[in-house]
Amino acid sequence: MKHFLDIHKTDPDDLRRMIDDAGRMKQARLGRPRGAPDDDLPLADRVVALIFEKPSTRTRVSFDVGVRQMGGQTMALSGSDMQLGHGETIADTARVLSRYVDLIMIRTFDETVLTEMADYADVPVINGLTDRTHPCQIMADIMTYEEHRGPIAGKKVVWTGDGNNVCASFLHAAGQFGFDMTFTGPAQLDPEREFIELARSKGSRIEIERNAEKAVQGADLVVADTWVSMHDGQSSRERRHNMLRPYQVNAHLMSHAKPDALFMHCLPAHREEEATSEIMDGPNSVIFDEAENRLHAQKAIMRWCLGL
Ligand code: CP
Ligand code: NVA
Repeated sequence: MKHFLDIHKTDPDDLRRMIDDAGRMKQARLGRPRGAPDDDLPLADRVVALIFEKPSTRTRVSFDVGVRQMGGQTMALSGSDMQLGHGETIADTARVLSRYVDLIMIRTFDETVLTEMADYADVPVINGLTDRTHPCQIMADIMTYEEHRGPIAGKKVVWTGDGNNVCASFLHAAGQFGFDMTFTGPAQLDPEREFIELARSKGSRIEIERNAEKAVQGADLVVADTWVSMHDGQSSRERRHNMLRPYQVNAHLMSHAKPDALFMHCLPAHREEEATSEIMDGPNSVIFDEAENRLHAQKAIMRWCLGL
């Protein structure tokens, strides 16, 4: 069973093939209306369940449109509407869904819900974000970087702010795609040691630099994300804002990076908090390409999962 649970759990050659496949599929439908079907319809006769236990705009719409373009059908389910949200076990839910659908995408809180779903499902399971990781996002981000600047291997990526789930998947990708990463943020919000050590064990140079200006020196890519993630309680909001303010990505900070450094943000953003609009809408920002590439990257992920 080919689940797409995390970037470090997926073979680097397969990851590379998915990125290439996504680019090829994107090219093949240039200029067509969004709803026009792809020529080959690889998901004809297939149904995909999209389970959301947290809000979503990009993941929900990009998976839904991607499946439709490939000729399949989707069913979006909210955790609270399912029996899953009312005491049915994950294992039973996985076994039941496997009798109806061909693929399951789930966005959830605790990653054990995802891994248990995968353990018990007879169909592939895709991670649509957990509290700990967000691999589909980073596949789109790698695709986006390479579209604009060529191979990401050997480049320097700087993560600013909270060492959260998206940062974790970037660290996983550093090890698998062979780039270096510097984290700049407060010590209380460092990424988990495990993610850093894994990337280092695969040969990536991973650094922690508390001074944001020093961190972005020589950066090829600067990345920001929200200061308060969906799983963080709103009670920590003020404390986080105070800690994270020195790490805002603004014109002054970007002036310390390479002149052609790209800026990324997975969105949704809180403008003028983690990044200024001047940067988000500026010439080096590729935030909307990232959002678009969720569609293409996930189509490639689904094909890989189903061996199509
Ligand atoms: N970037 C991302 O996953 O966005 P959504 O929360 O809107 O799906
Ligand atoms: N870190 C953010 C990403 C949202 C796509 C969150 O988990 O809320």
